[in-house]
Amino acid sequence: MSELARFGVSLEKELLDKFDSLIRQRNYSNRSEALRDLIRQELVKKAWQAGDGEVAGAITFVYDHHGRALLNKITDIQHGFQDIIISTQHIHLDHDNCLEIVAVKGKPARLQRLADMLKSLKGVRHGILSMSSTGTEMA
Ligand code: NI
Repeated sequence: MSELARFGVSLEKELLDKFDSLIRQRNYSNRSEALRDLIRQELVKKAWQAGDGEVAGAITFVYDHHGRALLNKITDIQHGFQDIIISTQHIHLDHDNCLEIVAVKGKPARLQRLADMLKSLKGVRHGILSMSSTGTEMA
């Protein structure tokens, strides 16, 4: 673990009250932990926007199990993105719906491209890209 540094923060009382209320709702043990998370969240966002480094994330999508052509398309697309796909998990949600979670790592634009291609397929009912970090540059 890296060396700890302390700093003071001045805030309007009303804003601090709202922050404390949020901290309680989100179950943080203290303000420092909540602030660390906020900072990390911004760093992850910056890494995704910068686009030159490596990021990690997950594409989660739900689709119509009965669409055979759709199943083929999903597989074809994923074969074209083997360089960024770490693993894929398939869950049979119910008789009609499948849930797939694709763990990805690589350049942000390529991860976003794969997510867009999967989400836009006809028969995909919902899709979302969770933007996370490889963790290497996070303290
Ligand atoms: Ni299934």
